[in-house]
Amino acid sequence: MITGFYSFKGGVGRTTAAVNSAMLLALKGKRIGLLDLDIEAPGVISALGLKALNGQSLLHVMIGGNIPFLDRVVVEYDLSHARQLGGNDYVSGGALLVVPSIPDPSLIDQVKWDAPATTWQLNEIVRYFIKRFRLDHLFIDARSGLSQSASYALSVAERVICFFRLNRQNIIGALQMLPAFTAKGRDFKIVLSEVPDGADAPQREEWIMKFEKETVSRVDFILPFDPSLLFEERLFVIEDPQSALSRALAGFADSALNTLEVTSV
Ligand SMILES: Nc1ncnc2c1ncn2[C@@H]1O[C@H](COP(=O)(O)OP(=O)(O)OP(=O)(O)O)[C@@H](O)[C@H]1O
Ligand SMILES: [Mg+2]
Repeated sequence: MITGFYSFKGGVGRTTAAVNSAMLLALKGKRIGLLDLDIEAPGVISALGLKALNGQSLLHVMIGGNIPFLDRVVVEYDLSHARQLGGNDYVSGGALLVVPSIPDPSLIDQVKWDAPATTWQLNEIVRYFIKRFRLDHLFIDARSGLSQSASYALSVAERVICFFRLNRQNIIGALQMLPAFTAKGRDFKIVLSEVPDGADAPQREEWIMKFEKETVSRVDFILPFDPSLLFEERLFVIEDPQSALSRALAGFADSALNTLEVTSV
């Protein structure tokens, strides 16, 4: 199963959600891949406190055109750190493997963003990543942007978890996007995000109803705002598993667990 974590606005907690739910699945013994396709504002490795190996990233694979070079790009998160934080009640055998992007506009310019060729190349990279690293599940972090990486993420994902801020502009955006998603018959989840400031509190329920009514779509998850995350990145799902945010994130992970095996790209 390939899950896309998608938003058409930034700063909604999408990367944090993808990283933490991937971590939960890895701790449950699954082999999880995380592909950072938010190439303009990548955040996956920094959210995990990792560094790109010798500065190498997804774009280096794309520019060089040598897919097996991915072996030197994939960064593995050492799950024993997470186990130490949260006790030992985790299943062994899991892995968390990241294909990082690094913020470098000059690299983005070197990629020939040409629709069929880019899609073909990203497909090859995804296929190689899944097979070579024996992934049970692939998560892709992507946001609408200038390059084609976001539309690729949307087209390859069998499930898309889409993050919306609860405001007028996003209802309009959702109205435009949802028919295209549902027409393709893919599993589609809507997350209303309260990040970055937890606003909307007084009329929250009213706005959720409005969102559902106007978009004719059910809200699947609410991503609560947790002030402890504002100024520091923490592995909160492990350090504070009972918080409202951790429980919401466990919901993502659980829904993914039911459909874990990766189908062919
Ligand atoms: N649930 C949350 N509550 C409070 N703060 C959060 C929450 N989730 C993430 N944050 C904080 O908000 C900021 C943005 O989060 P994150 O990078 O996950 O968002 P994003 O949607 O991936 O943004 P971008 O488009 O920039 O990649 C970070 O500083 C993060 O620590
Ligand atoms: Mg991000």
